[in-house]
Amino acid sequence: MDLRQEIQKRRTFGIISHPDAGKTTLTEKLLLYGGAIQEAGAVKSNKIKKGATSDFMEIERQRGISVATSVLAFNYRSKKINILDTPGHKDFAEDTFRTLTAVDSVIVVIDVAKGVEEQTEKLVEVCRMRKIPIIVFINKLDREGKDAFDLLDEVEQKLGLKVSPLSFPIGMGYDFKGIYNLWEQNVKIFKGENKQKIAETITHNSLADAGLAESIGDAALAELKESLELIEGVYPPFDQQAYLEGNLQPVFFGSALNNFGVQELLDCFVDIAPPPLAKYSDKRTVAPDESAFSGFVFKIHANMDPNHRDRLAFIKIVSGTFKRNTPYLHVRNKKKLKFSSPNAFFAEKKEVVDVSFPGDIIGLHDTGNFKIGDTLSSGEEIHYKGIPSFSPEHFRFINNADPMKAKQLNKGIDQLMDEGVAQLFTLNLNGRKVIGTVGALQFEVIQYRLEHEYSAKCTFENLNVHKACWVSTETEENDNYQDFLKVKQKFLAQDKQGQLVFLADSAFSLQMTQQKYPEITFHFTSEF
Ligand code: G4P
Repeated sequence: MDLRQEIQKRRTFGIISHPDAGKTTLTEKLLLYGGAIQEAGAVKSNKIKKGATSDFMEIERQRGISVATSVLAFNYRSKKINILDTPGHKDFAEDTFRTLTAVDSVIVVIDVAKGVEEQTEKLVEVCRMRKIPIIVFINKLDREGKDAFDLLDEVEQKLGLKVSPLSFPIGMGYDFKGIYNLWEQNVKIFKGENKQKIAETITHNSLADAGLAESIGDAALAELKESLELIEGVYPPFDQQAYLEGNLQPVFFGSALNNFGVQELLDCFVDIAPPPLAKYSDKRTVAPDESAFSGFVFKIHANMDPNHRDRLAFIKIVSGTFKRNTPYLHVRNKKKLKFSSPNAFFAEKKEVVDVSFPGDIIGLHDTGNFKIGDTLSSGEEIHYKGIPSFSPEHFRFINNADPMKAKQLNKGIDQLMDEGVAQLFTLNLNGRKVIGTVGALQFEVIQYRLEHEYSAKCTFENLNVHKACWVSTETEENDNYQDFLKVKQKFLAQDKQGQLVFLADSAFSLQMTQQKYPEITFHFTSEF
C-alpha cells in the first residue's frame, strides 16, 4: 500500500462531552463494533470520580488508566480508526484543548435529559474556532429526556452550530423503538434487551413497508412521518463539503449503553469523516502525502514508575512515513534523535512498530527532550503552530520546603511544566516562581508528583492574581510601552519561553491597564 492509500485509510478523531454524558460508553461500543474488544466493560473510565479531588491515589490510578486509553485504535470497514481520549474533568480542560490539535474531526456526545452542558460549550467553541468537522450524538434515548426538536434548537443556540439531523428517534425512554436513518434512508427497529451485545435490528427500507406500522404502531408511524416532514422543511439537507468545512453538523440519536444508533453513527462517520489533513506550520502548509516525515508533540505522559523518570511523548504524524531507528530532527533543540522502540496503539495495547503514517499517533520514550508543541521532522526547520497555553485561572507562589533538594525541585518543576501540567512564571522583580493552573486540582498533583517522582518538597503560598496576559507591542521603543514596563514592574513576569507576561490582580486593573496603554496588546493565549 502506498503512502496515499495509507492516509486515505485513516480517521483520527476525539470524542468530547461533559462528564457523564456517555463518552466512555460510546468509545467502548465503537471498539466492540471494530472487534477490538469482545465485551463491554473492557474500557476503563478515566474520569476522576466525584469527590475524589484530594485523593492522590485516585489521581495516580487515573494517570495509569489514561495512558492506556490515550489512543484507542481499531479497524472498521477497511479504515484504521484512531480515537484520541480527552479528559472530561474541567481541571484538565487544557489537556483536552491540546488533544484537539491532533484530531481531524470530533464527535460530541450530549445527554438527552441534560442537553448542552457547560463543558461541552467550551470544547465545542474551540472546535468551531478551528473549523474542526463535528458530528453530534445525542445519547441515552432509552431514558426520558428533552424533546428531540427542542434539543436540536438547543444545540444550535448554545453551541452555535448549524445542524442537519441524519437520524431521528422513534419514541423515547420506555417507548424508544428505533431510529430513522436519514443517511441510509431506512428505519431500524430495535429488538432485544441484552446490553452487552450488539442489538438486533430490523431494517425497513421504506416508510410504506407493511411491517413497519406493525412493529412500531400506527401512532408512532404517523408521528415519525410528521417529524420527517418537519426536518425536511426546517433543516438543511446534509452536505458533506459543508460538514468538512465546519459549517454544518450532522446529528445522530441513540443509546450508547444499549447499542442503539451506534452502528448508524459509526457507518456514517466512516463515510463522511475526513482523513488526515494538511497542517499549517510557521513557514508553510504541510500536506500529509509529502514524502518527508513531520509530526508534533501534543501530549506528554510521565511514566508510572517513579524509579525510571522516562516519559512517553505522544506525536501526531502530519506528513510522510515515520520509521523506527531513523534519525529525525528535533527542531527546537536542533538535535537529531532516533527512536528504537516507538509505540503504536491498538485498542488498549501499545506495541513497538516499524513504520507509522499520517493520522497515526506514536508514543516515543523520552528522557526530557520533548515538551508540548515540539516538532519533529526529517530535516526541515518548521514549527507546527496551534498549541497555545491558555491564561491560567489559579496562581500560587511555589516555595522550596527542603533546601537540600533545590536541584530536584527545579528539575521537577521544569519537567512537569514541559508536560503541560501547569505554567511557570518568574517575577521580573525578585525572581520568585509562580505556578499558574487551569484548575485547583493541579496544585495537588504537582505537590504529590514532586515528592514521589523527584523527592522534592514544596509549599504553595497564595497570590492575588486574576489573569496572566501575554503582552506585545509594535515597537518596544515607544514611550507608552516603556512607561508600562516601569509602572507595572511589580506585576511583570516571564513565562518559560521568556515571553513577557502581565499578572493582573483584578479584572478592573486589567481593564484600566488596557485603557492606559493603547500601544500594547494583551493576549489571553501564548500564541498570537
Ligand atoms: P463519560 O465517559 O462521558 O463521563 O460517561 P460514561 O460513559 O462513563 O457514562 C456515564 C453514565 O451514563 C454511566 O453510568 C453509563 O452507564 C451511563 N450511560 C451511558 N450511555 C447511556 C445510555 O445510552 N443510556 C443510559 N441509560 N445510561 C447511559 P454510571 O451509573 O455512572 O456508571 P456505571 O456504573 O454504569 O459504569
